[in-house]
Amino acid sequence: MKIGNVDVRLLKEKYDTPLYIYDVSKMKKNLRDYKNNFKSDLFETEIIYASKAFCIKEMLRLINREEVSLDVVSMGELQTALAVGFPVNRIYFHGNNKSEQELILAVEEGIGTIVVDNLMELEALERICFERKKTIHILIRLNLGIEAHTHKFIVTSHVDSKFGVSYNSIEYQKMKEIFLRSKYIIFDGFHSHIGSQIFDLSGYIAAMDKCIAISKDFDKPLVLNIGGGFGVRYTEADKPFSIIEGSKKLIEGCESALRKWKGKIKKLCIEPGRSIVAEAGNTLYTIGYLKQTPNKLYYFIDGGMTDNIRPALYQAKYNADIVGKENELKNHIVTIAGKCCESGDLIIEDIPLPMAVPNDLLITYTTGAYGYSMGSNYNKALFPAIVFIEDGEDRLVCKRQSYKELLEREI
Ligand SMILES: Cc1ncc(COP(=O)(O)O)c(C=O)c1O
Repeated sequence: MKIGNVDVRLLKEKYDTPLYIYDVSKMKKNLRDYKNNFKSDLFETEIIYASKAFCIKEMLRLINREEVSLDVVSMGELQTALAVGFPVNRIYFHGNNKSEQELILAVEEGIGTIVVDNLMELEALERICFERKKTIHILIRLNLGIEAHTHKFIVTSHVDSKFGVSYNSIEYQKMKEIFLRSKYIIFDGFHSHIGSQIFDLSGYIAAMDKCIAISKDFDKPLVLNIGGGFGVRYTEADKPFSIIEGSKKLIEGCESALRKWKGKIKKLCIEPGRSIVAEAGNTLYTIGYLKQTPNKLYYFIDGGMTDNIRPALYQAKYNADIVGKENELKNHIVTIAGKCCESGDLIIEDIPLPMAVPNDLLITYTTGAYGYSMGSNYNKALFPAIVFIEDGEDRLVCKRQSYKELLEREI
């Protein structure tokens, strides 16, 4: 089996397992599909990579080279961006509970835009800017009461989300007073994020419609950021629209909402994470022991919930193959279990696979998003290495954690 023309068995020899393997050409294609299709003659557009999906230095360098902007949600993600010299004017800083130090750093570094989540944050930000006599651009994160998950979206009267502010609330009115009168806060517009792994675009259309209606209250054309969320294919059951189709339909939806409301916007932003990296990533494991119980055949792998928490956290489904046996008869129903001391540490349940033997390699697909970034040292497992494959060449972009590194913070 090859990824980007590199034999995965050679990758095992060179880097060992568990190993995250990314195909750079796929990530580039995804970024370019957004850039080339999320475009309009009526307003500017901006693609902002949501770095929470996969945030390492080399990834952020790639995002910068592709001239895509960046969303960070924490000091750690911001520091990663600063470490690779990511242009600060193309950084959007999110988060519901940004600390004083985070806001100070953002203001002092001149971060492009802060996405303000609540009233207390706005008050703190204004004070920090006043003390330094510095201005900052902001978007206000709105809670529109629209939630989208896979095939449906629901309009809720859900006003209790930890994220954002409801447009009709007193909190929003107070925020509006601040951002309209403040000399230091430059209000650019609104942000909303309606969900993730979305297969139906109608939730976005409803969200844009609401934002455009609201933006008519202002006497300048606003920036609207519609968040991330495009779905990807984890298994055959997932039927995502393509990035090209999704981008074009959202632009059409925005243009028609503008016509309907006789409105104008300055810029429409989108903030994809998963759809850029998920399908470009795979995880390679070595199978250790096999175990047959009365009802189950287990293949035990040398990783698990520490490198992919999503099955345990969201019952997420994945597809896998045994390397070199992809075309053999898949006549065993198998559960792939990790090595953590936790019964829920099952990467895939009941997948048809050929019979394996110890030391076979198992590859799980579509693990590029929220795998490494949600990884942990549970049971003191080490973070795996990460390789990027491009033009038939493999490149180590993140070293496997060592036991020395694992223990060095402990006193
Ligand atoms: C505010 C915001 N923007 C963007 C994203 C990225 O979403 P996705 O990875 O589904 O594209 C998220 C994900 O949770 C988010 O919370």
